[in-house]
Amino acid sequence: MIRDQEILNGLLDTIARFVGERLIPNEEQVAETDEIPDDIVADMKAMGLFGLTIPEAFGGLELTMEEEVLVVFELCRASPVFRSMVGTTVGIGSQGILFDGTPEQQEKYLPRLATGELTASFALTEPEAGSDASSLRTTAIREGDDYVVNGTKRFITNAPHASVFTLMARTDPEDKSASGISAFIVDAQTPGISFGKRDQKMGQKGAHTCDVIFENVRVPAANLIGGKEGQGFKTAMKVLDKGRIHIAAVCVAVAERMLSMALSYAMERKQFGKSIAEFQLVQAMLADSKAEIYAARSMVLDAARRRDAKLPVSTEASCAKLFASEMCGRVADRAVQIFGGAGYMAEYSIERFYRDVRLFRIYEGTTQIQQLVIARNMIREAK
Ligand code: CAA
Repeated sequence: MIRDQEILNGLLDTIARFVGERLIPNEEQVAETDEIPDDIVADMKAMGLFGLTIPEAFGGLELTMEEEVLVVFELCRASPVFRSMVGTTVGIGSQGILFDGTPEQQEKYLPRLATGELTASFALTEPEAGSDASSLRTTAIREGDDYVVNGTKRFITNAPHASVFTLMARTDPEDKSASGISAFIVDAQTPGISFGKRDQKMGQKGAHTCDVIFENVRVPAANLIGGKEGQGFKTAMKVLDKGRIHIAAVCVAVAERMLSMALSYAMERKQFGKSIAEFQLVQAMLADSKAEIYAARSMVLDAARRRDAKLPVSTEASCAKLFASEMCGRVADRAVQIFGGAGYMAEYSIERFYRDVRLFRIYEGTTQIQQLVIARNMIREAK
């Protein structure tokens, strides 16, 4: 659903200009230094990128899902690392508060998240609980007006920059199932929280992840999302349903960028006396990539529109994430192949993209988890 085409076009034009003038020219520097320059982050805040998904009543842009994916299609023509900076605040870090938070929690946090004054991270994964998210062990035990949190969260994107965490923890340690889990808003400055060293990753330099360790951290009971125990796993799953459409949009945009790089290279590079784009085996790689990107783009838009129409999207979100992330991996592989020897050299940015996109098939639910979600939903519906 597009609420106002003219306003949306203005936003998309502004982002396209920002991507071309500010983000793409700084990609190499970000990859080399492993840092996004502060002035770029400040510009992203000023443009409202941290508040894309937050309601206007709380100072955000309140984009619909369709508008959000159209923004992502533009933004992620630059290195996906820039999106990662805003991604957890716009998405999985803040949406739990939006979906299930009490009015007081929304009033307290959403306006400051919308401006980027606060940044949010999503703390679900643990050393022993990744795909099997409901087996998480972090505990939050009620003591008076507080919950006392103990446990370790792993690979938490943007944790070193986070002001608040949406934390999933077990409030009922006797209940080992999903219904023993609750979600909390946790101030990152709370005593007892410490951070592991930054993870050294295969790619996505400039996007930071680390462990977050909770040792007797006192979280006010007022920060229990929705004020009700046992709802945290469902909150996390709802957040991920939306997040998976968003990540699928990221995959489409990055694949488009890689394909445009591969096409330019194929048209310039000469072998056997002509440009390699004239060879049919190279054309096959270009054409397959184009068709697959188009398919993924259509899936993402369809899933987004269904979500805007308030239809269930768990299956479609997983289908889009599965197909788009796998497609992106195939496009990256073909792009490197078209670049040939140059594609293996760090001097050409396609090598960096190849490493960066590997993550898409893993985070916010691996491809195998998407398969499991899709098949389970199919079986449930058929019963
Ligand atoms: N929406 C609402 N509720 C949902 C739901 C959804 N999409 N999916 C499940 N639920 C509910 C179920 O209805 C069930 O409720 P009841 O008990 O009332 O029936 C409850 O949640 C438990 O559901 P399941 O029995 O299906 O749970 P499960 O333990 O079998 O797990 C799973 C399901 C799909 C495998 C889930 O664990 C999962 O998605 N795993 C992947 C986790 C993941 O994506 N991790 C990524 C971490 S975030 C990340 O990557 C961030 C980053 O770096 C930026």
